[in-house]
Amino acid sequence: MNEKTNMETAVSPPANTNVTQRVNALLAQMSLSEKVAQLAQIGGADWNQGPKPEEIIRERGAGSVLWLNDTKRFNEIQKVAIEESPSGIPILFALDVIHGYRTIFPVPLALASSWDPTVAEQAQAVAAKEARAAGIHWTFGPMIDIARDARWGRIVEGAGEDPYLGAAMAAAQVRGFQGDDLADPERVAACAKHFAGYGASDGGRDYDPVYLSESELRNVYFPPFQAAVNAGVDTFMSAYMDLNNVPATGNRWLLRDILREEWGFEGFLVSDAFAVGNLVIQGHARDRRDAALRSLKAGMNMDMASATYLEHLAGLVEDDSLSMAEIDEMVRPILALKVQMGLFENPYVDETLLEKTVALPEHRQAARQVAQRSMVLLRNEGGLLPLSKEQTNIAVIGPLADSMEATEGSWMVFGHEPAAVTVLQGVRAKLPKATVAYAPGPDINRDIPHPFGEFDMTKKKPIQAPEEAEVAFETAVKTAQSADLIIMVLGESADMAGEFASRGSLDLPGRQEELLKAISALGKPVVLVLLNGRPLSINWAAENVPAILEAWEPGSEGGNAVADILFGDVNPGGKLPVCFPRNGNHAPLYYARTITHLPESSEQYRSRYWDSPTTPLYPFGFGLSYTTFEFSNLTVSAEQVKVGEHVNISVDVTNSGPVAGDEVAQLYIHQKWGSDSRPMRELKGFKRLTLQPGATQTISFQLGPDELKYWSTNAGQWVQEAAKFDIWVGADSLATLHTAFEVIA
Ligand code: BGC
Repeated sequence: MNEKTNMETAVSPPANTNVTQRVNALLAQMSLSEKVAQLAQIGGADWNQGPKPEEIIRERGAGSVLWLNDTKRFNEIQKVAIEESPSGIPILFALDVIHGYRTIFPVPLALASSWDPTVAEQAQAVAAKEARAAGIHWTFGPMIDIARDARWGRIVEGAGEDPYLGAAMAAAQVRGFQGDDLADPERVAACAKHFAGYGASDGGRDYDPVYLSESELRNVYFPPFQAAVNAGVDTFMSAYMDLNNVPATGNRWLLRDILREEWGFEGFLVSDAFAVGNLVIQGHARDRRDAALRSLKAGMNMDMASATYLEHLAGLVEDDSLSMAEIDEMVRPILALKVQMGLFENPYVDETLLEKTVALPEHRQAARQVAQRSMVLLRNEGGLLPLSKEQTNIAVIGPLADSMEATEGSWMVFGHEPAAVTVLQGVRAKLPKATVAYAPGPDINRDIPHPFGEFDMTKKKPIQAPEEAEVAFETAVKTAQSADLIIMVLGESADMAGEFASRGSLDLPGRQEELLKAISALGKPVVLVLLNGRPLSINWAAENVPAILEAWEPGSEGGNAVADILFGDVNPGGKLPVCFPRNGNHAPLYYARTITHLPESSEQYRSRYWDSPTTPLYPFGFGLSYTTFEFSNLTVSAEQVKVGEHVNISVDVTNSGPVAGDEVAQLYIHQKWGSDSRPMRELKGFKRLTLQPGATQTISFQLGPDELKYWSTNAGQWVQEAAKFDIWVGADSLATLHTAFEVIA
């Protein structure tokens, strides 16, 4: 575009002065009203009430616009900001680009199942490149909330239950989105969300309050956030809910003491949507004016969509409730990001860039490889998989078998047109000569529709009548009966996980299990492919269906990746980043519990319930391969080390099976005594490796103060204690290969 850029407007400082000077120069010329507007993020969607973004921007500018995904509109709005707003400060356009913009990658829970941070980095780098080509500067990701309750719908957006794996995935995603240079025109600013504790809502109910001790917060929920800070994340988002009775959005301890003082975060914070205004609903603020005051005082820079700052901050300065210095402090990092991203020099997006960028074949290839690496083989009795490509007569059955929405998963960017390769299409493409019949069986639906119309799949299709469902059921069984091999694609539709998508049960929704049983009863080989955004309690399948592949919500190339694995072109190597509970009532369930009175390992006390075992159906870290692996020669470099010193752990991993494959070596520790009880196992190292048949690789891990310290309730601080440590290394959180060492004072 050949527009006048802000370089030519009166207030714009020369591009070569350093960032602080440029920000100061801008601030010196801005009115209070303009400064406040920089602290506002304005909804750009049609359904947003109130004035259009242009009206506000023309009068006073704005920090950011969100919920708009329209390249042409970005330029139109930017033009108003640059040419008509008083200071000509460019707008940051923000959108939720969670796992892909046009090329959709596996959902973040699936990315974590790769146990390969480079995979997460690669996925988000492509997402950033496409989003930036569309004119988006800032994504609301990565979502890095630890989630230990599979009923919580947003478990799909994060990396699962573990702080160590979660921290690695958080840092990788930040690197993928942002790269090394804020001025890189193929990257976007990232946003670590939702700070903090959102994943621990009571009962897994979305938005419900969270009660977490300081030790739980620091040892479990904070590490991914601190890793994001260390990786240089530009922005943070607060969480919606109350944390220990203080709303996260008005929580000074979180936003200032921890994030800025302790961790040294220098970027800016945005509230979750409407959360500043909602401090009134939450019973924290007296009215919207009070909400603006409390939130700003707590350290919240930008108000997402509630307009509370726009309405009240200027008045609060005028009556001396706030000082100009406090406003300037909040505005500074927002202006700094705009300067550092080069928005003053390049505020507009080339409107021809997007279509060229999304057409790059390497993006689809990356999506396929990432999906392959994310899938987890849960069962393979009798070596049913991989399937022979000589198959001629296959039935692909299930409500998700040809669903592009379920294949891409939850959290699509606004206005996204589903375009995934479904499992049905993937199988047909793999075996072009075979007969591949298809029947969906009965539809599945949420009992209570999704409140966000955009994502409400139930709206797109009328609800099936029971008689229609019965016909669909019978047709599916008949279709299966005529085939030699049946691939069932079951799980959850895209609107069943994500925000506002918590559930009380973890069973397969609708009549899916009934259909699985009826088809299994035909006595033919059945493979179950799961498309879902959370662990499911598939107890019957785990006993009765010989082959189960957890494909999660695998993205644009998901169906091809499933076919690659089922027919042996790719050997699966993903591992679960969450436990699979046997029952939704068992949630929260996670491996890193403390031992407590009467350990479950004793013969007598095998379960915490008398009506079912409390062990997970599949443990954290679990996943099979078409080959087998053995771990041996676990050695520790010293039997004793002093506090502050390091110890090296090494182990041999051997591919003892017939084909090349991937294994993830996982190292777990247990501190045997100390000022607090410590979890019976904690992941403290992992490495995904590829081994040829018969090959052995020695890998090593280092343990030192970073891995051995913890936040102690009793000590009220971080401690590294003199104690004995058990070590296990193996293929999942039940690894048995053991050694030990001692830390002495
Ligand atoms: C979600 C955030 C999201 C924001 C903006 C909120 O409802 O909790 O994760 O980034 O909306 O779309």
